[in-house]
Amino acid sequence: MPILDPNSLEFLSRSADQTRRVGMRLGAILQLGDVVCLEGELGSGKTTLAQGIAAGWGSLDPVSSPTFVLVNIYRRSDGDRLAHLDAYRLNDALEAEALDLDILLEAGPLIVEWARRIEQALPDDHLWVDLNYVDSEARGLQFTARGQRYEGLLEVLQESVFGVI
Ligand SMILES: Nc1ncnc2c1ncn2[C@@H]1O[C@H](COP(=O)(O)OP(=O)(O)OP(=O)(O)O)[C@@H](O)[C@H]1O
Ligand SMILES: [Mg+2]
Repeated sequence: MPILDPNSLEFLSRSADQTRRVGMRLGAILQLGDVVCLEGELGSGKTTLAQGIAAGWGSLDPVSSPTFVLVNIYRRSDGDRLAHLDAYRLNDALEAEALDLDILLEAGPLIVEWARRIEQALPDDHLWVDLNYVDSEARGLQFTARGQRYEGLLEVLQESVFGVI
């Protein structure tokens, strides 16, 4: 349910499909340079949410877990590129800095799984999403906006998901 803090939005997802649908709403409003940070334990739904985000953004490519390749790049017909980074195997922000995130952000939005591990290498302004395992089919999703761009984005997302501001 929506809560009163304008910088955060909480949502209880009751299925993987519902998580994908919320992701699609978010993906549809992402712009070049936007950063979405995903944090949550193993199996909490980070990649599932990323699948929805990529679909809503208009990816021509299927989403897979980037755990072993570090970063996946998905294409869109207008030439933009969505980057999907998994920081699980990175040891610290220094390793992330070697990835030239700025260059990725010039081509499109960026999604980061296990974002806490490399938080210092990420832009201060971003959308943060905490995912929590509730039970086998339910996950708690908490979206937090950091910076003006993301406060606006969260308002639009809230309107899109709940139909109210
Ligand atoms: N409400 C839900 N939202 C998201 N996933 C759900 C939900 N209910 C069940 N699931 C299942 O939980 C699993 C989530 O896996 P997923 O790979 O998305 O997690 P992850 O956070 O990316 O894990 P990892 O840390 O290993 O990368 C999937 O098998 C998915 O079908
Ligand atoms: Mg994952």
